[in-house]
Amino acid sequence: MLKGNGENDKVSQLRVSDNQIGFVEPIADILKNLSPAVHGHVIQLDKNIIGFFLIDTSYSSNYEFCETGSIGLRSFFIDHRYQGHGFGKQVTQLLRDYLAPNYPNNHSVYLTVNCKNPAAKHCYEQGGFVDTQELYHGGDFGPQHILKLNLDETQR
Ligand SMILES: CC(C)(COP(=O)(O)OP(=O)(O)OC[C@H]1O[C@@H](n2cnc3c(N)ncnc32)[C@H](O)[C@@H]1OP(=O)(O)O)[C@@H](O)C(=O)NCCC(=O)NCCS
Repeated sequence: MLKGNGENDKVSQLRVSDNQIGFVEPIADILKNLSPAVHGHVIQLDKNIIGFFLIDTSYSSNYEFCETGSIGLRSFFIDHRYQGHGFGKQVTQLLRDYLAPNYPNNHSVYLTVNCKNPAAKHCYEQGGFVDTQELYHGGDFGPQHILKLNLDETQR
């Protein structure tokens, strides 16, 4: 999870490619979402911070499609310098093992991914997220697929 100030400096330098702007907010805006309910996470490779995501424990209160007892994954990205090396896929594949014990009162994770972003959708599906076949129309950048990951080990 996001810790001291030195880490904040490195995090504030993260960004996506120009053609991906619209899929995630700029990091400065993402960081404004942090709260006791919205937890910032850095993705680290050796000593380098290469990506970021938020875990939103208030997601089910704010999004109708999200069942009670679920958390939200938001603002997931890999910095443009590190994309295309399998890191996004590795992170999504590790999410269940990280989230299940750390958010034990929740049985699933929801996210939305823009319909114009098949690369990210594919990446999430490689980590076990399943397309609910429903669309979310609330964003500013067009319709989004709603995906869900089950955290209940018995249903893997
Ligand atoms: C989506 C994202 C996290 C993927 O991270 P990454 O480290 O570049 O992805 P990986 O290298 O692990 O690749 C994962 C899979 O996606 C595919 N992929 C990655 N980038 C792709 C692209 N631009 N076009 C097509 N496929 C792509 C890879 O081929 C791989 O699939 P494969 O294993 O079947 O070959 C990254 O591109 C990103 O940060 N995008 C901008 C922000 C964003 O869209 N976030 C999602 C918000 S909902």
